[in-house]
Amino acid sequence: MNRKPCEFIVVSNKKTLKELSESKDMGAKLIAGANKAIVVIADGNLADTWVEDSSIALTHMHLMATELDIGSCWVQVHLKTKGDQDCEDVVRDILNLDSHYRIVGILAFGHSNKTPRPYTPEDIDKSKIRYID
Ligand SMILES: Cc1cc2nc3c(=O)[nH]c(=O)nc-3n(C[C@H](O)[C@H](O)[C@H](O)COP(=O)(O)O)c2cc1C
Repeated sequence: MNRKPCEFIVVSNKKTLKELSESKDMGAKLIAGANKAIVVIADGNLADTWVEDSSIALTHMHLMATELDIGSCWVQVHLKTKGDQDCEDVVRDILNLDSHYRIVGILAFGHSNKTPRPYTPEDIDKSKIRYID
């Protein structure tokens, strides 16, 4: 419906990057060492496709970063926890966001110390593809 619910917060501030790196139990520590991170937020009142729209945005930024020789890593926020807190609540607190903003994830940027080889068609697990002819 072309509602465009996504907004983007570009974080360069080291203190905020550190806070975001501690926003969930596991898998966010790398943000502390990132040069920048983009938090994708979406107005959940505007569109019920906020998960899909945010994921599309994250994926395309991920691909573009690679194209520009910039390392990036997706950090999941939605459905994750920090202790007994919802990770989305923790990130909303850090960024002073209203509760109608939903947060699928954060893309952290930097220079990778190792570059994985690109996937090739041979890497595709063909057993996961079903055909209806
Ligand atoms: C939806 C999604 C959520 C992810 N969340 C995290 C995360 O919270 N922390 C992290 O270090 N990596 C995260 N990743 C990166 C994955 O760990 C990574 O994509 C996976 O290990 C496969 O590596 P590859 O993307 O190089 O094939 C996430 C990736 C996706 C697609």
